[in-house]
Amino acid sequence: IAPASADLMARLAAGMADDLLSTLCLASEAPLYLAPAMNQAMWRHPATQDNAARLQRRGVTLWGPAEGEQACGDQGPGRMLEPEQLLSHLIKALAPRERLLEGLAVTITAGPTREGLDPVRFISNHSSGRMGFACAAAAAELGARVRLVAGPVSLPTPSGVERVDVESAEQMREAVLAAPGAIFIATAAVADYRPRLSADEKIKKGSESMDLELVRNPDILAEVAALQFGRPFCVGFAAETDNLVAHARAKLEGKGLDMVAANWVGERAEGGGFNSEENALELFWADGTESLPRAPKTELARALLARIAERYYRVKQEQ
Ligand code: PMT
Repeated sequence: IAPASADLMARLAAGMADDLLSTLCLASEAPLYLAPAMNQAMWRHPATQDNAARLQRRGVTLWGPAEGEQACGDQGPGRMLEPEQLLSHLIKALAPRERLLEGLAVTITAGPTREGLDPVRFISNHSSGRMGFACAAAAAELGARVRLVAGPVSLPTPSGVERVDVESAEQMREAVLAAPGAIFIATAAVADYRPRLSADEKIKKGSESMDLELVRNPDILAEVAALQFGRPFCVGFAAETDNLVAHARAKLEGKGLDMVAANWVGERAEGGGFNSEENALELFWADGTESLPRAPKTELARALLARIAERYYRVKQEQ
């Protein structure tokens, strides 16, 4: 849709269907591309930014807006991309994708795990599941039979993907080992520790301090990579706050993986990593590396899955 006004984006985000265009969008399962066009203050307004983020979370792709002079005389972001730029985006987006993973079983973990302290409290982390859900959608686009083992997240299931919802690391492990697939991609931020004891009743406030004893959770990825029979091609993620290359390489070797996709988290993520729409990845395998530059997680996942498919077939050939 070009131009996509602030008003249209708000109505699509709200799921309205009170005219032909919004009705078509709501009733169609086709991919949706928007070219925002509006005044710079309207684009910067938190309401429009929220609507843009909501639409992107649902898989809508935004092309632009560009910055520059506006019809009203203002300067700033909100200009629609030039028609030639939109055409080239469209050609790229609609080019038939090779169904590189046709029929292959791909298992993907996504999101955080929750480790219960009592019936109302848990230990967890900031993973939103977006990176893993984007990988599931990208693998399905390539023709794979995707099984997505998801921790507690509030994201819609990508179309054509089988979803298994779990809470804790132990439940995630069980669901993964039931069918680890031909390719296993571990994007989940699995809690490394869980409370030794989880109280049956709510823990009451009492003394000034409280000790919590934690025990190690199973390392799902390491366990899958060590399978004697039916070991899949294993791709791990590495979330790092320092020494990214050294830590990623240590995970590749230590867990016996075929590939690691490392990303910064925390301050060095610069808006990527946990709970964001965008990310950047450094890929490592036994005899190579590649940088996938910052992009929306949906696009990044497509690039990652193309690299995984390439490495998977190369390893198969060598076996
Ligand atoms: O979900 P988002 O908000 O989109 O954020 C994406 C992300 C930052 C969570 C993702 O890109 C990412 O980095 N995921 C891995 C997070 C992590 O736990 O990294 P790690 O370095 O601690 O673990 C290394 C690998 O072992 C990971 O593949 C992890 O899934 C796996 N692991 C870890 C511990 C464990 N007990 N079992 C595991 O399988």
